[in-house]
Amino acid sequence: METDDATLAQVALDGWEDLAGLDVLVGQLLEAPTSTHGLRRALRGLRREIGVFQAHRAGCEDLPERITARRVQLGGGSRLLPGFVNIDIIPPADVIFDVREGLPIVDGETEFIFAEHFLEHIDYPVSVKRVIAECYRVLQPDGQLVLGVPDAGMIIDAYVDSDPDIRERMMEEWYANRDDRAHFNTYLDLVNYVFRDQDDSDRYTPHLWAYDLDKLVSLCAEAGFRKVEPWPHDPTIANPDRAWGSVYTVAYK
Ligand SMILES: C[S@@+](CC[C@H](N)C(=O)[O-])C[C@H]1O[C@@H](n2cnc3c(N)ncnc32)[C@H](O)[C@@H]1O
Repeated sequence: METDDATLAQVALDGWEDLAGLDVLVGQLLEAPTSTHGLRRALRGLRREIGVFQAHRAGCEDLPERITARRVQLGGGSRLLPGFVNIDIIPPADVIFDVREGLPIVDGETEFIFAEHFLEHIDYPVSVKRVIAECYRVLQPDGQLVLGVPDAGMIIDAYVDSDPDIRERMMEEWYANRDDRAHFNTYLDLVNYVFRDQDDSDRYTPHLWAYDLDKLVSLCAEAGFRKVEPWPHDPTIANPDRAWGSVYTVAYK
């Protein structure tokens, strides 16, 4: 494609306001036959972030000041929890907000925060530590933060033991319906996908960091939580499909 100076100037001037110009440019580069695989990968990531940025800004306009929320879910996606303020960067959340920028909630009044299969999708350490610190800020004394993530410890143990049952169950429960299933033909592929799942996805944010019980405990303790312990999977709150292969903790402020 041809991009003249005027187009680039337009992107620089107008694009920063709503990033629409940059989005168009990225779209054109993605379509261009001369673009390389590596460039397209980077552009897909940029396009995703432009979308998140635009959604976040629109969400901020809908929410001029911090809210009070007794129960909060972060990163619930389409699993809205009744009685919770559901915060995500995509609809149908109650509040559209990029939580890497903090939580749009007042200090010290929240009783319970729930976040499941979310933490591994944001960057460690900067955003992960910021989100947990923000959870600490908004919780009331004795308030609880429940975190659930894919259990990297379980998968690494299973890899070391060459456990055929876990391998089969992972394939069935996590990858059976995926169109990239053909690429999982060794145990190490399964280990890799805990760390890097959806690495090249157009739609989803990839896994950026892996967690086990120790890591969740350490993160919450570092943020100031006075007690952190395993949380027994409660299907009235948590996704029943996540019961197997996940590790959950509850941290008390
Ligand atoms: C794998 S989904 C998990 C959905 C649901 N919790 C579950 O267990 O089925 C991860 C969710 O985190 C959300 N998410 C990722 N990054 C986010 C961010 N920076 N701010 C808010 N939500 C985010 C995504 O939009 C997505 O809905």
